[in-house]
Amino acid sequence: MNIITKLAVAASLATALTSVSIAQDNLNDLVVGFSQIGSESGWRAAETSVTRQEAEARGIDLKFADAQQKQENQIKAIRGFIAQGVDAILVAPVVATGWDDVLTEAKEAEIPVILLDRGVDAPEDLYLTSVASDQVKEGRVAGEWLVAEVGEEECKVVELQGTVGSTPAINRKKGFEEAIAGHDNITIARSQTGDFTRAKGKEVMEGFIKAENGGADICAVYAHNDDMAVGAIQAIKDAGLKPGTDIKVVSIDAVPDIFAAMVAGEANATVELTPNMAGPAFDALSAYLADGTEPEKFIITESKLYTPDDNPQAEYDTRKGLGY
Ligand code: AHR
Repeated sequence: MNIITKLAVAASLATALTSVSIAQDNLNDLVVGFSQIGSESGWRAAETSVTRQEAEARGIDLKFADAQQKQENQIKAIRGFIAQGVDAILVAPVVATGWDDVLTEAKEAEIPVILLDRGVDAPEDLYLTSVASDQVKEGRVAGEWLVAEVGEEECKVVELQGTVGSTPAINRKKGFEEAIAGHDNITIARSQTGDFTRAKGKEVMEGFIKAENGGADICAVYAHNDDMAVGAIQAIKDAGLKPGTDIKVVSIDAVPDIFAAMVAGEANATVELTPNMAGPAFDALSAYLADGTEPEKFIITESKLYTPDDNPQAEYDTRKGLGY
């Protein structure tokens, strides 16, 4: 590269860096409301911590509202943010339906809304963007892992679903069913909600074990999140069986506790869901406020499969301080 080219590259890099920092500076002192679902899982706790950190790093004044799992509380919080005249709103919608009115109110008040980690059944023009994983893919990745793992063996699966009516529960079920379709040796024998919590996951798994010959007839548990899987692992142990061996355990999130279970040989696979939805959300907001750049309507995060072959101890160590 000659000196002229080098200078040109340096100049364009400098311009690019300047415009990035100008774009990010435009969030300084902005007031952003965040309607969070609650704290049902380790993943959710991490998302809350990371959102606070991402906001602080950009000088954003984040107004946090915990909805304690209730949509009515989320709607109330969003109306409160609108009344305060915040600059933008983040919302992790607990369920998919029932958002049209409040999102229309935000739109009429010209407050951009960004959805985090779950989707809504509402017209797309009511929100700026949605930052989430491809939840059908997550279920598919989990199901494909099981298909490869059991081969031709007969395998009765019990499924712990997430919160009824939430997009991850709907889509993770769909993706898993797609993956096992055509593999007649794999059947979902029982399926019930564990509401994404550890306690409910344990309770529902205890019922499954009782109903399935003390667990002897269960080949695998598929949990829509790791917390329910951790609850199920406890139920399997309490029944005198070995999780990970007598009953395979596959779930979604990749929280530290599932890696600890993998290290102990008690969990077999998890699909990663990053807790950093806020970073891409704030970047999109920054560009939009800078010059009206419309972000992609759906910003999709990665869905990587982890198994005991992926050094679970190292994964545990990397994640354990991150607010899970
Ligand atoms: O919407 C994301 C899901 O919600 C996470 O997988 C789960 O742990 C959380 O409660």
